[in-house]
Amino acid sequence: MRIEYLEREKLFRLTAKDTEYVIGIADERYIGHVHFGKKMGENRCGCLLRTEEAPFVPSKNLRDKCSFADAFPAEYSTWGVGDYRDSCLNVRSSDGFRGCELHYENYRTVDGKPGLPGMPATFCREGEDGAGMTLELECRDKVLELKVILRYSVFADSEAVIRSAELVNEGKGPLYLERVLTACMDMDMEGGDLLTLGGSWARERHMARRPLAFGKQMVSSFRGESGHQDHPFLAVMGQDAGQDRGEIWAMHFVYSGNFMAEAEVNQFGMVRLLMGINPEGFEWVLKPGEAFATPEVVCVYSDEGLGKMSRIFHDLYRGHLIRSPYLHRKRPILINNWEATYFDFDTEKLLEIAREAGKRGIEMLVMDDGWFGDRNKDEGYLGDWEVNEKKLSGGLPYLVEQVKALGMEFGIWFEPEMVSPDSKLYRMHPDWAIRIPGREPVQSRAQYVLDLTRPEVVDYVYESVAGILRSAPISYVKWDMNRQMTDVGSAYLGREHQGELFHRYVLGVYELQERLVREFPELLLENCASGGARFDPGMLYYSPQIWCSDDTDAIERLAIQEGTALLYPLSAIGAHVSACPNHLVGRVTPFGTRGHVAMAGTFGYELDVTKLPEEEKRLIEEQVKLYHRFQPLVREGDYYRIASWNENHKYDCWQIVSKDKREALLTYVQVLAEPNGHSRKIRLKGLDLEAEYRLEGDQLAKEGQIFKGAFLMYGGLLIPRMQGDFTSVMIYLKQV
Ligand code: GLA
Repeated sequence: MRIEYLEREKLFRLTAKDTEYVIGIADERYIGHVHFGKKMGENRCGCLLRTEEAPFVPSKNLRDKCSFADAFPAEYSTWGVGDYRDSCLNVRSSDGFRGCELHYENYRTVDGKPGLPGMPATFCREGEDGAGMTLELECRDKVLELKVILRYSVFADSEAVIRSAELVNEGKGPLYLERVLTACMDMDMEGGDLLTLGGSWARERHMARRPLAFGKQMVSSFRGESGHQDHPFLAVMGQDAGQDRGEIWAMHFVYSGNFMAEAEVNQFGMVRLLMGINPEGFEWVLKPGEAFATPEVVCVYSDEGLGKMSRIFHDLYRGHLIRSPYLHRKRPILINNWEATYFDFDTEKLLEIAREAGKRGIEMLVMDDGWFGDRNKDEGYLGDWEVNEKKLSGGLPYLVEQVKALGMEFGIWFEPEMVSPDSKLYRMHPDWAIRIPGREPVQSRAQYVLDLTRPEVVDYVYESVAGILRSAPISYVKWDMNRQMTDVGSAYLGREHQGELFHRYVLGVYELQERLVREFPELLLENCASGGARFDPGMLYYSPQIWCSDDTDAIERLAIQEGTALLYPLSAIGAHVSACPNHLVGRVTPFGTRGHVAMAGTFGYELDVTKLPEEEKRLIEEQVKLYHRFQPLVREGDYYRIASWNENHKYDCWQIVSKDKREALLTYVQVLAEPNGHSRKIRLKGLDLEAEYRLEGDQLAKEGQIFKGAFLMYGGLLIPRMQGDFTSVMIYLKQV
């Protein structure tokens, strides 16, 4: 890891582990993108900015400044001064004029990695001096009296480059920020594909690859959350890039609200990648002397396809983003009562579940929605966080005590950011809901969103959650958020500041979670948003795990978890074994397969264990044993995708290898059985070529056999033909 300034060449070179990111200053003022990729070892690479071609020197040839601006590979493009591609920044002056041009002025390098006030950010862990470095490029728009600092950080153990920008109003009047993205990256690329993640509720983060084409291709959210539908990620891939080969450039946004991620192919075939807060519905008033910081974008380059890209993201998030003390700790196996009982439960029912679960080795009971107010259906009482003692006779402390007496931990569900129209809170404070005066706000799941731009609302919400947590020894919170925003208006923010609501709301969420993890440092926090609508790196900063999807069907989960694991370590992916027929799709899958799929995540159960046949209860005991045995490997290991059901429509297969390559775990799911099928040869990945591995697998004929790593990787392992749809095997390999 290094950051250098080459004075003569006017180049900044950031060297991550094996990649370099090179920035050049053209014509003494324009900050250009030279390279992000393999190390070039060449100091004269600034010629790639093309500033030496005659018409492209704007200070000497003003006539052609526009052709310069519209083709220049910018690091932080601005609006309205000759670059007609989409830009990062557009500012309106207090006189009402739009347009912005930034000129480079100076730079600074800083040891370590500065945080972002009030926002999630990657960091160097305490005691890790020298683990990170940051470059700050200072530039200015003299007309607007606006200073912009572009920040780039690298870590000693990562290939990622982290970017953010800070704007400071140095003038005397307000500036109106209409568009402030975090990063832009311009590349020359012939052909190539765009990869994004998207879907819907219960179908989150499916991978979508399509050819890059002329024009703009964008994924975005202006739902107030990152969303089920789109994910704040994009990658461009060389045409030949696949799982293990080819070049990939990716961006991922460390933010939990509205975003945009765009790839624009222009008239010269150049590709511009852009990422940041969605300008739709956004306007920020920057008063004199004030600063505005953008959330971070993680930029990753991989020269070995998606597999290496995933591992770079996983290591970065485990090493430099997740703060929870549970990061490297075994998570308790939980049982959640949502799919078991929905709203229909009481103390006795919960204890019945806990007793049976505890007997089988499950370690924590999580009480989901329906324990407060008079909430027996999804209408009403959100905001009234008072325990319903009609259901929980003896109160919450009694229930927690009883669960603890069984040797189990207790967890609880909240949806703190919401208010039901039918609630004491709403009747008392209708102006605490986000709404536009005079307009009947849209209800979604019969609820409104609380206006977290109001400090008194943030305090109320915090005390509601913290008060309950202070009342009993609760180990875990599932923090839910079940609707998207509409009618975006705040009775608190003035006329000029309505465009700040979306972002200020997200800052409110961050403040709440920051307070929570500070007051309850040992709390295991799991974020959730109608399943996975706020599964993003921003939330990972507060919670080490996020509920992945409300779809708990093992087969549906294959694509969802594949897309999620493209970016997130398996230790962050909330996954449970649920009852069959599955409540969402009606599919019946073997109990074993449900366990194998959930084990590629945090693992737990979401069913009425008291109603299971004895055989399935026994299978729980076996799965619990497997979990204890393999959890450290799953949590800490390197993830390899071997085959994707999404692509081959037959089977799914992934593998986890410990960092020291001494052990590995392979999971294979046969989705549909084939008539006249035969055994399938699977080539393993990531093993030590020279080492010998002993095989262990419940359904494997080869049990106990020993093979060389090179054989397993270049030759392969035969998975015997299996009878039946949705069957699976898990094979453990250990070096002898
Ligand atoms: C959301 C969550 C579910 C469950 C329900 C409760 O949909 O994703 O897991 O907690 O809310 O209302």
